[in-house]
Amino acid sequence: MSEHLEHIILARDHIWSRSTIRPQLAVILGSGLGSLADELEVDVVIPYGDIPGFPQSTVAGHAGQLVLGKLEGKNVVMMQGRFHYYEGHTMPKIVFPIRVLAALGARMLIVTNSAGGLNPDFEPGDVMLISDHINVMGTNALIGPNEDAIGPRFPDMTHTYAPDLQALTKHIANRMGIPLRQGIYAAVSGPTYETRAERRYLRIIGGDAVGMSTVPEVTAANHAGMRILGLSAITNKATGDVDQEPDSHEDVLAMAQVAGKKLVQLVRRVINAVPVLEYMNPADLVELIAREPDMIAEIIDHTLLKPDATSQQIKQLCEEALEFEFASVCINPIHVRYAVSLLADSPVKVGTVVGFPLGAVTVEDKIREAKQAIDDGATEVDMVINIGAIKEGNDALVEREIASVVNTAHIRGVLCKVIIEAGLLENEEKERVSLLAKKAGADYVKTSTGFTAGGATVEDVILMRQTVGPHMGVKAAGGIRTYDRLKEMVSAGANRIGTSTSVTIMKEIGEEK
Ligand code: HPA
Repeated sequence: MSEHLEHIILARDHIWSRSTIRPQLAVILGSGLGSLADELEVDVVIPYGDIPGFPQSTVAGHAGQLVLGKLEGKNVVMMQGRFHYYEGHTMPKIVFPIRVLAALGARMLIVTNSAGGLNPDFEPGDVMLISDHINVMGTNALIGPNEDAIGPRFPDMTHTYAPDLQALTKHIANRMGIPLRQGIYAAVSGPTYETRAERRYLRIIGGDAVGMSTVPEVTAANHAGMRILGLSAITNKATGDVDQEPDSHEDVLAMAQVAGKKLVQLVRRVINAVPVLEYMNPADLVELIAREPDMIAEIIDHTLLKPDATSQQIKQLCEEALEFEFASVCINPIHVRYAVSLLADSPVKVGTVVGFPLGAVTVEDKIREAKQAIDDGATEVDMVINIGAIKEGNDALVEREIASVVNTAHIRGVLCKVIIEAGLLENEEKERVSLLAKKAGADYVKTSTGFTAGGATVEDVILMRQTVGPHMGVKAAGGIRTYDRLKEMVSAGANRIGTSTSVTIMKEIGEEK
């Protein structure tokens, strides 16, 4: 094991020894945003100085401590104070705490910062959802020997800011009446604020906000397979125009308080609504379900895909989803609009199917169906692959159709699951298509439509989980009708379950307790 990894484990073990909290998600609090930690039911506060290997924060406004506790019923670890490149820390030092957060078990990272508004429409006090970033720091957080145990040498950054978390955050901000900006964060090294010419340059290359942090942490978190949500408090105008006021750190901190108030409430609501279960390590999920079986509802797609489903039945399905707080309803496209109207203002997602149930339509048709469903308000799409194409080795076609639907979905913040119809495939074919789905950036691979003879099998789920690794979703669907069967699927590595007997299963759990 490398020395770096050994240090990570030492730090993790130190934190574990001081708290019983096993965090599901991590939050990095930017300058002036530390008050989110006040909302936490605190279990323990650990000064960075106590944690072996942690660097020390040197900037005013950054407290420099790790806070573990519960927020909205979820186990949370917060970094109150972060490390900046301009402080003189090396990149391995800056990313060290992030790797420790991942080692603690947090699969999701919410990162906040304060930033200057490059976009002339932005005003100090605004909150911006980070949809992507540009690294103009002149270095990269992962330069140096790769830690293969953490992630790959050349990590993909296409879907760094999780589309579904972005969609969820927009939805919540909308409901709270918080106007949410959205844009691209450009990271500079600092510590100087930018010249006007530099800001005009950053605008030209596509930046909406500029700051001196976040990108190294996000790069390391993405490398470690974490799901990331980024939010900026816009603290000053940074347009580079002639009328721009001179910058001062004090003004930035003062405005961070203003935007910070909104940000704190928003993050709190996001933490409340976020389905942490599906971002957990498969092994941790098994343990959690054993302790708190009711929570299984959070990973169930409450499904009704039969051809004779009526509006009345869809209404009942949605009411049940609200009552049991299922992850989503999974329905045919024709019912999407109605379900969206019934589930508006709830965290229950509306999922639908594309190329269903045979998968044997053209790529263009699949794209069109996905677009239509998303226009109608669907927030998850389950697409069936072209099964014949996999059989005849036409991987290029399958990759193209998956990538097209994934991109159509992700651009609108919609999650995409790829149905491989495992019952019709040989093991080698199942592996090949799972890898294609992973390469194309899909969020899940899913066993079956439920419309062929073979439903989900434990063997298929194990094979798919082994193939895609711990960070991608695996959805088991088809023939899961009892709690025992559902538990088998979760133990095999599934972190989403599609079933039409969800209510019976929940009642079964209620009786067992
Ligand atoms: N530039 C860089 N970092 C910042 C700014 C800015 O204008 N405002 C807050 N952090």
